[in-house]
Amino acid sequence: MKTRRRKSHFNVAVIGAGAIGADHLASFGLHPAAKVVAVADISSKRGREAAERFGIPEVVQDYRLLLGRDDIDVISIALPNYLHAKVTLEALRAGKHVMLDKPMATNARDAAKLVAEARARGALFMVGQNFRFNAETQTARQIVGRGSLGDVYHAKTSWSRRSGIPRIGSWFTQRRFSGGGCTYDIGVHALDRCLYLLGEFEAAAVSGQTFAKFGPRGKGNGGWGKSEIDPKAPFDVDDLSVALIKLRSGRTVILEAAWASHGPANDANATQLFGTEAGLSLPPVQLFRQTRTGYCTEAVDPLPPLVNPNRMVHFIDCLLGKAKPFVKPTESLAVQKILDAIYVSAATGREVRIK
Ligand SMILES: NC(=O)c1ccc[n+]([C@@H]2O[C@H](COP(=O)([O-])OP(=O)(O)OC[C@H]3O[C@@H](n4cnc5c(N)ncnc54)[C@H](O)[C@@H]3O)[C@@H](O)[C@H]2O)c1
Repeated sequence: MKTRRRKSHFNVAVIGAGAIGADHLASFGLHPAAKVVAVADISSKRGREAAERFGIPEVVQDYRLLLGRDDIDVISIALPNYLHAKVTLEALRAGKHVMLDKPMATNARDAAKLVAEARARGALFMVGQNFRFNAETQTARQIVGRGSLGDVYHAKTSWSRRSGIPRIGSWFTQRRFSGGGCTYDIGVHALDRCLYLLGEFEAAAVSGQTFAKFGPRGKGNGGWGKSEIDPKAPFDVDDLSVALIKLRSGRTVILEAAWASHGPANDANATQLFGTEAGLSLPPVQLFRQTRTGYCTEAVDPLPPLVNPNRMVHFIDCLLGKAKPFVKPTESLAVQKILDAIYVSAATGREVRIK
């Protein structure tokens, strides 16, 4: 691994000025040691609008123009999923540090290449799993770390919407651009948070099933995303998925993701851990215990965060040597392998063993 001279200021370029690109642009601006100097988007209109809104001095349509520039240290990627691995690899090879929005890639083979490239180059590379950074997750992690739950042997984690397909006909709902539907899009958050809380990422076996019951009928549309709609594009991704994941230790996780469903809440995520001494759920963080006289539910007050709750601010803190990367590339690779296995299991009808 290469070692790099530590700097005290970092110039950032954001690639992709769509819905979440705005969060990248705003967030880096919160760190006094970072400046967003350029934004790239194939849509010159979206690029220009973002530059005006966030006061970014330069806009380009071709992101490759930014990779060769010596004055840019960090590339932050907010692109459709099919470009994640390609652009990350190019940026790492150009000597940049990379913040990549989720999911890591559209298959684990590509994801593994990113892990290897970042390691070989001594670059900071992080998948921006923002659920991990929020106050509830950080509080829950500390409660689990104290051993309050005893031996945690099972977990359930989900993100379910009633009508939240990112606009039907956009890249999100076309497999060739997204790689997959709700499993990659929101299942990734629920799974990553759960495995982070368990402190275990490697799975041994996965059984999954996927459904597309709303999107193909033009139902369940949500409002997310800025990219163009192709009304003729097929809806060929999942809008609900479920999986049973057996971790290497023998512990189990049930994952459920739904962009659209006849569920009880419009948009809800929840993670529950089951331990020998107590159970925990979030959000909000609550503990459940059986006592001699019955059951008790305990609300948990927020604990001081382990890292800055803003993932971009944290990324810059890591470059400054003030923090250790909170999301490790190997963890994101393990998550990717599980998500891929859900699709393989759904397609084959079999349990998939993960090496
Ligand atoms: N962390 C989160 O909570 C979160 C939330 C939403 C989206 N995301 C992820 O962020 C990524 C972007 O999602 P989004 O909602 O912003 O999508 P979006 O469609 O709103 O924006 C994507 C942008 O990328 C641009 N683009 C496409 N190809 C390009 C290219 N070759 N060069 C430059 N620009 C190009 C598009 O023009 C568009 O402006 C996705 O991978 C998504 O999964 C993460």
